[in-house]
Amino acid sequence: MSKKVKTGPTYSEMLKVFFKSIREYKKPSILAMIFIALETCFECIIPFIMSKLINLMEKVNNSDLLTTVFIYSGILLALAICSFICGLTAGRLSAKATVGFATNLRRDIFTKITTFSFNNIDKFSISSLVTRQTTDVWYVQNAYMMFIRICLRAPLMLIFSVIMAVIMAPSMSWIFLVTIPVLVIILGIIIWKCLPIFFRVFKKYDGLNESVEENVRGIRVVKTYVREEYEKEKFNKRSEDIKKDFVVAERIIGLSNPSMMFSMYISMFLIIFFGSMIIINTTSIVNDEVVTDLDIGSLSSLITYGAQILSSLLMLSMVFVMFAMSMASIKRIYEVLIEVPTIVSKKDCATKVDNGEIVFKNVSFKYKKDAQKFALKDVNLTIKNGQTVGIIGGTGSSKSTLVNLISRFYDTTEGEVLVGGKNVKDYDLETLRNSVSMVLQKNILFSGTIKENLRWGNNNATDEEIVAACKIAQADSFVEGFPDKYETRILQGGSNVSGGQKQRLCIARAILKKPKVLIMDDSTSAVDTKTDALIRSGLRNTLPNTTKIIIAQRINSVQDADFIVVMNEGKIDGIGTHEELLKNNKVYQEIYEIQNRIGGK
Ligand SMILES: Nc1ncnc2c1ncn2[C@@H]1O[C@H](COP(=O)(O)OP(=O)(O)O)[C@@H](O)[C@H]1O
Ligand SMILES: [Mg+2]
Repeated sequence: MSKKVKTGPTYSEMLKVFFKSIREYKKPSILAMIFIALETCFECIIPFIMSKLINLMEKVNNSDLLTTVFIYSGILLALAICSFICGLTAGRLSAKATVGFATNLRRDIFTKITTFSFNNIDKFSISSLVTRQTTDVWYVQNAYMMFIRICLRAPLMLIFSVIMAVIMAPSMSWIFLVTIPVLVIILGIIIWKCLPIFFRVFKKYDGLNESVEENVRGIRVVKTYVREEYEKEKFNKRSEDIKKDFVVAERIIGLSNPSMMFSMYISMFLIIFFGSMIIINTTSIVNDEVVTDLDIGSLSSLITYGAQILSSLLMLSMVFVMFAMSMASIKRIYEVLIEVPTIVSKKDCATKVDNGEIVFKNVSFKYKKDAQKFALKDVNLTIKNGQTVGIIGGTGSSKSTLVNLISRFYDTTEGEVLVGGKNVKDYDLETLRNSVSMVLQKNILFSGTIKENLRWGNNNATDEEIVAACKIAQADSFVEGFPDKYETRILQGGSNVSGGQKQRLCIARAILKKPKVLIMDDSTSAVDTKTDALIRSGLRNTLPNTTKIIIAQRINSVQDADFIVVMNEGKIDGIGTHEELLKNNKVYQEIYEIQNRIGGK
C-alpha cells in the first residue's frame, strides 16, 4: 500500500488565503450569484409556460382563448424581462466583484513583496515575481469570474431541467438517463487527456516569459554581442514547442464541441421520435376533449429542457478545465502570499542610531542555509565613527556581501554586526536603513524628474540642500547643463543619463539622507579618476562625522582612506593603510602592480 505523502498545500488552504483578498467585494460577489440563480430560475420556468401556450393552440374552439393567450403571453414577457434584468444586474455585479478582487490581490502581492528581504527575492527571482503579479493574477481573475457566473447556474439549471423534464414526461426520462452519462464520460475523457498537456504548456510558458524578459531587459547587451539571431532561434524553439503541445490540446478540445452537438441531436431525435410515438399512440378524443399522455406543448418544452441539460453539463466541464488551468497560477500566487519575510524589525527596537561606528564580530555568512560555501568567513573588523575605509578585492571576493550585512539586507549566519554600539537586529529596520545610506552596485533611478529621484533620499529636502548634495557628488554641473535642469525627466531605468551621471545622482541621493554611515559599492566605476577624487574630497570635507565605506576596483579610489580592507575569497586578507599594505600584503601588491602597469602604458 502506498502511503499518501503531503506534497504541497491543500486546495482549501490555498483558497483560504485567496478569500482574504476578496474583502469588500464579498457582497457584490454573493449578490451576483443570487441574481444569476434567479435568472436561471426564470430561464427554466419559461419553457414550461411556453408549453402551456402552445397547448392552447389546439383548443381553438375555446371561447376564452384570446384572454388566456394574453395572460400566458403576459407572464412569458414578464419572465423574460425579469430574467433580462437579473442577467444585467448579475453581469454588472460580477464584473465589479472580479475586477475588485483582482485589484486587491495585486495590491496584496505587491504589499507582500515590499516586505521581502533580499533573501526572499533571491528565492523567487524578479521575473517570476513580475509574472506572478500580472499573468497569474489575470488567470485567477478569470477563474473567479467563471466561478461566480457558473458555480450556481450550471447545477441549478441541470437539476431544474431534469426535474421539469421528468415531471412533464416521466415515460421519457430514460432518454436523459442514457445521454447524460454518455456525455459525462466523453467530457471526462477530454478533460483527463487535456489537463496534463495544459500543465506542461504552462510550465513551458514560464520558460518563454523568462527568455522574453531577459532579452528585453538585456536588449543592449544582446545587440552589442550581435546575439539577435541566436536569441531569436532560442525563442522560436521554445515557442514552437508550446505550439506543438497546444495543437494537441486544442484538437482534443475541438472534439468536445462536435460530440456535444452530436449528443444534442441524438437526444433531440430520441425525444421527438419517442414523444411523437407516445402522442400518436395515446391520443384519443373523449367527450370532444383531447386526452393524451403527452401533448405537443410538453414535447416542445422537453426539447428545450434537453438542450439546457446538455449546455449545463458543458458549462460544468468548462469550469473544471478553467479551474485546473488556473491552479498553477493559484499555487504560484499562494507561494508569494504565504512567504514569510526573513528580515523584520523586532518588538521594542531602537529607533535611533547614535553614531556611525561599525563592528563585525566573528561574522560568517552563507546565502542559503544548505549552501556548502560560506560567502563570508570569520570576519572581524572595527570602523570608528567618521572614518573613511576603502574595501578592495577581486570580483566575487564578497565585498558587496560584507557591506550588505551592515544595513541588514541579509542577516549574518554566525556572529554579529554592530552599528553605533548596537546589534543591527535590535534596530527598527527603517531607522537603520535611513542611517546607513547605501549606494548599491546595481543602482537605479526611477521614472520621474531628477528632483523627484533625489527626494527619495529625503522627502523634505529643500532645493538648496539638493543642489548642495549634487555639488558634493559632482552632479550639479551636468544637471545644470540639461535644458530642464533639475526638472529633467528620467526615463524608466534611467536610460537617458549616462552610467557615470547615474552613479553621481545616486550618490547625491544617498548624501541627502544625511546618513551616519555612507556606503558606496563600486559607485564611481563609471566616473573618471579626476571626478572620483573630487567626490571623495567633497565627502571628506562636508561629511566629517559620517563613516564612509568605499568599495572600489581602482587603488587610487581608496589609497587616501584611513585604512583599507583587502578581501579575498570571503575573508579579510589584510587591513592597513596604503603604504602598509603595499609593504606586507600580497593581494594588494598584485592589484597595485597590475593597475600601475596598465595605467603606465
Ligand atoms: N544573491 C546571491 N545569492 C547567492 N550567492 C550570491 C548572491 N550574491 C552574491 N553571491 C555569491 O557570493 C560571492 C560574493 O559575491 P559579492 O559579494 O557580490 O562579490 P563582490 O562584490 O566582491 O564582487 C560570489 O561567489 C557570488 O556568486
Ligand atoms: Mg560587488
